[in-house]
Amino acid sequence: MSLLPILLHPDPRLKKTCDVVPAVDAETRKLADSMLETMYDAPGVGLAAPQVGSMARIFVMDCTDEETDSQPLVLINPEITWSSDDLNVHQEGCLSLPELFEDVERPAQVRMSFLDIDGKPHEQQFDGLWATCAQHELDHLNGVLFIDHLTRMKRSMMTKKMVKYKKELARA
Ligand code: NI
Repeated sequence: MSLLPILLHPDPRLKKTCDVVPAVDAETRKLADSMLETMYDAPGVGLAAPQVGSMARIFVMDCTDEETDSQPLVLINPEITWSSDDLNVHQEGCLSLPELFEDVERPAQVRMSFLDIDGKPHEQQFDGLWATCAQHELDHLNGVLFIDHLTRMKRSMMTKKMVKYKKELARA
């Protein structure tokens, strides 16, 4: 396991559609372990493979709070099989856009099919923060960031902030 550097927006790798994982093997498990470690270290509640430069359809998440036992989840080749008609607004952030938060409206509940770290198929329903996080992370696998759900003006404002932030990081 190792900590992986997290790509910051804007980066062309964050705008790409990721590839289906053909087989869950040792390499996949190594990546998932490192992604979980990187997510907990950040700290964040979700992390998608393209955010660490891997164009594979994998994301990890754990939306438990400090009072409950951690529940690390690895979702490989996730797909939405059902989403609720009722919507929910949650304030979202992203490890690729540190310090920036905005409200995003999404289905309140979703069901996803996916493979786990042993390659076993699952279908699981998510609600609350888990539903928001799962949809946010799945978006990443399709080259979509949470700011793509906002107005063009907000999106360009946040992108400008990130360009400035990256310049400052490069100079430091
Ligand atoms: Ni994100």
